[in-house]
Amino acid sequence: MSETKSSNAMWGGRFADGPDAIMEAINASIGFDQRMARQDIEGSRAHAAMLAATGILTDSDAEVIREGLLTVLSEIEGGTFAFSTALEDIHMNVEARLKELVGEPAGRLHTGRSRNDQVATDFRLWVRDQLDAMDAGITALMKVFVAQAEAGPDMVMPGFTHLQTAQPVTWGHHMLAYVEMLGRDLSRVRDARARMNESPLGAAALAGTGFPIDRDMTADALGFDRPAANSLDAVADRDFALEFLSCCSICAMHLSRFAEELVIWSSAQFRFVTISDRFSTGSSIMPQKKNPDAAELLRAKIGRITGALMSLLMVMKGLPLTYSKDMQEDKEQVFDAADSMMLSLAAMTGMVADLRPNPEPLRAAAAAGFSTATDLADWLVREAGMPFREAHHVTGALVKMAEDKDCDLPDLTLADMQSVHEDITDDVYSVLTVEASVASRRSYGGTSPERVREQIARWKEVLG
Ligand code: ARG
Repeated sequence: MSETKSSNAMWGGRFADGPDAIMEAINASIGFDQRMARQDIEGSRAHAAMLAATGILTDSDAEVIREGLLTVLSEIEGGTFAFSTALEDIHMNVEARLKELVGEPAGRLHTGRSRNDQVATDFRLWVRDQLDAMDAGITALMKVFVAQAEAGPDMVMPGFTHLQTAQPVTWGHHMLAYVEMLGRDLSRVRDARARMNESPLGAAALAGTGFPIDRDMTADALGFDRPAANSLDAVADRDFALEFLSCCSICAMHLSRFAEELVIWSSAQFRFVTISDRFSTGSSIMPQKKNPDAAELLRAKIGRITGALMSLLMVMKGLPLTYSKDMQEDKEQVFDAADSMMLSLAAMTGMVADLRPNPEPLRAAAAAGFSTATDLADWLVREAGMPFREAHHVTGALVKMAEDKDCDLPDLTLADMQSVHEDITDDVYSVLTVEASVASRRSYGGTSPERVREQIARWKEVLG
């Protein structure tokens, strides 16, 4: 049998016995929700000011409470605050300390609210801060990708499908593909922020309150656009956290794709890029090794981030309205996902800023694998008036011939070419270089240096 304590000072009125120690352990959230201390105190200060403005509290009580809360905050931020598990969570820890500091008025703070709207408010404010941090982090990463694009609008590299050489592309174009992805991540973050910015405060336990509170005033003080319109929904909703996690999951998926490319590209077999020493590690046994650990960790972070999304979806699934204690399980994984996301964005930003593309191996790989075969087929369509399907067939025969002779397409002689199709002329060689290939891809959104420069200019304008 574990120990039982005397009844809880905050809600123990109807209890003869205190909770079992195990009950206390499963019930307490203070071990993690102390991360919302600042938001909790901000919310309480706004609530106290509103209670005074509406005449529910005296001005002097509200002032004492608001000042006392600042003292509590400085104790927490200064690391001198003694958190108590018996007081369950951040809300009751703060209030209990306020009582010690200011006495009787502290007991009036909880008028017209409940921990249910309080925790919903705190968590929303916390997640909103994270969305803002993510907005800044994504923007910074986009800028370094644009800078990378600028370093090589005409640097040629292989473009892949199925990780097989497909057609030559430009380094700048590849970098800008990530800018597009991150641009969508950014717009998702901004959408989520706009949608979540409603105040639950004043929904009280679930039904609203009989006190003449002013919800617009607290919403305004906390930077919300408006109070949430339905008190039941206000305390039961965790969509904002789910949307944040889904923004994180998609963004982490994008980072994992570039991370994987970096792992491949930095290998001795590819040598497409050099990752800086600052973002690599060595091996304790193999002196020659330089490992892309940061990239590998970035490739892996999506696991825990998406795990958090799945976890919260499972917690919320099937919960009857309104608040249930299940919802205390909403926080830890969101905290972990947020930390992982911000660290990932910072690490990727540092790594991309330092990254050096290696033009020679990139060009050599771009020219290998018959990468200009499509250009040859297109030439046959344009210059010999062939239907594309036939041109595809003729080109296939030429690729086969080059393969048999163990050479590249531009190494075939004109006589070789004409033995496959008599209409081929010397002019065909002009389209078989990788430079000619990328330069010809001038369609909007294409890889030509010209189009890439336009997109770089556009993004620089957007990102400021
Ligand atoms: N610690 C709780 C949580 O995180 C606060 C809300 C408690 N509300 C309640 N009715 N017991 O969810």
